[in-house]
Amino acid sequence: YTCRSKHSPYNKKMKSLMNRLFFLLAVLYLPLTFSNAREAKEYDNDVNYDESKIPHYDLPKLLISPNGEKISSIKKWENIRRPQILSLYSNLIYGRIPVPEKPLKIIFKLVKEDKGFMKGKATRKDIDIIISNDKDSKTMRFLVFSPNGVEGPAPAFLKHSFNNTKSNDFDASVLRKGKLKNGWPLGEFFDRGYGFCAVYHEDLVGHNEVSFNNSIHKLFYPKGQSFPKASEWGVISACAWGAMRAMDYLETDNDIDHKRVAIMGHSKMGKTTLWTAAQDERFALAIAAQSGCAGAALWRRKSGETLKKMVTRFPYWLCRNAWKFVDQEDDLPIDQHMLLACIAPRPVYVHSGVKDTWADGRGEYLSAFHASEIYKLYGKKALDFEESPPVGEAIIESHVGYHIREGGHSIQSFDWKRFLDFADYHLKN
Ligand code: GCU
Repeated sequence: YTCRSKHSPYNKKMKSLMNRLFFLLAVLYLPLTFSNAREAKEYDNDVNYDESKIPHYDLPKLLISPNGEKISSIKKWENIRRPQILSLYSNLIYGRIPVPEKPLKIIFKLVKEDKGFMKGKATRKDIDIIISNDKDSKTMRFLVFSPNGVEGPAPAFLKHSFNNTKSNDFDASVLRKGKLKNGWPLGEFFDRGYGFCAVYHEDLVGHNEVSFNNSIHKLFYPKGQSFPKASEWGVISACAWGAMRAMDYLETDNDIDHKRVAIMGHSKMGKTTLWTAAQDERFALAIAAQSGCAGAALWRRKSGETLKKMVTRFPYWLCRNAWKFVDQEDDLPIDQHMLLACIAPRPVYVHSGVKDTWADGRGEYLSAFHASEIYKLYGKKALDFEESPPVGEAIIESHVGYHIREGGHSIQSFDWKRFLDFADYHLKN
């Protein structure tokens, strides 16, 4: 360093430059501090990530009913065991959807139609799904993008979205290289002949609802009720119900082939995706991205997020009956491979990330592997190996698909491409 006087113009310039740099770093660092705080909560020190510390567990049997009856045929699976399992999920995990005293009125209102979306590549429709009884109503905004110039109605993805479908993030003016600001590679979807549809879960129910007074629940309460019963629907079940109403709409839309709709979602919405597809057989395929705890991951492994972590931080994502199994996972009459099995024989794709340890990628794979038993009962190709496939290698030509890639909790371009490959293989062949 050459010696310069403290007050030289050079030093003043440096000082102001340093100050600006410091300010910039502080601004950049601030959100990081917050996100680290959020992660710290998720990765508290009583969470297990060590494979050698996974407790011994026995999974409940898919093909034996609680009274010991062997389920040896597709017919018995469909008539006895699958309904039993679905009812356990309804009453103990996600919560059943009550039947309203009087049927609700549901109407579809086309709010906007743009046939020249993305320079004419696609048609965009904004639809309000208005659900009401004689006292109150709730509206869900459903976005439907369908590719132009294709022959016949297009297959499509229906995304359980975290993005507000009313936001202007969906205007073609914010498109960059065919990719919307919110990360949906719409250009790629249209080029590959797919439509893309989205429902926004907070239209029906708050992310971490505690009162349920302003959510969709209010339309279902009989006189005197103001909170879901222990076996009644939590947040995830309500979102699943919403996607089913969106499917009701798609059945009326000639631009989308409602028989070739893949339901998908990430994380909390990945959990919701599996629960939606398990119940509603109109969805032809399901893609659960990093769905983790209460999604594809096995409860009994207690790796990464556990039932206890989930219900203490998000008490109402599941129904209140689920609380009873905290630290008692072995008493659950189900585990998550059974949820995937209820989707059979429709193709299901599970996605994990190496760094997304909170979601237990290994547990997500094992669920898919064990669910394969039911796909095989249907004579479908499914997973044969208990060992997870190598990182970055996608299993596409199978009714149970899977990949784990490097990196953390998000859907990346590599993932979108594999999801589309899986849909191509199953919906276009
Ligand atoms: C939290 C939660 C997860 C969930 C995730 C998300 O991390 O613990 O279960 O999947 O949020 O929805 O992004």
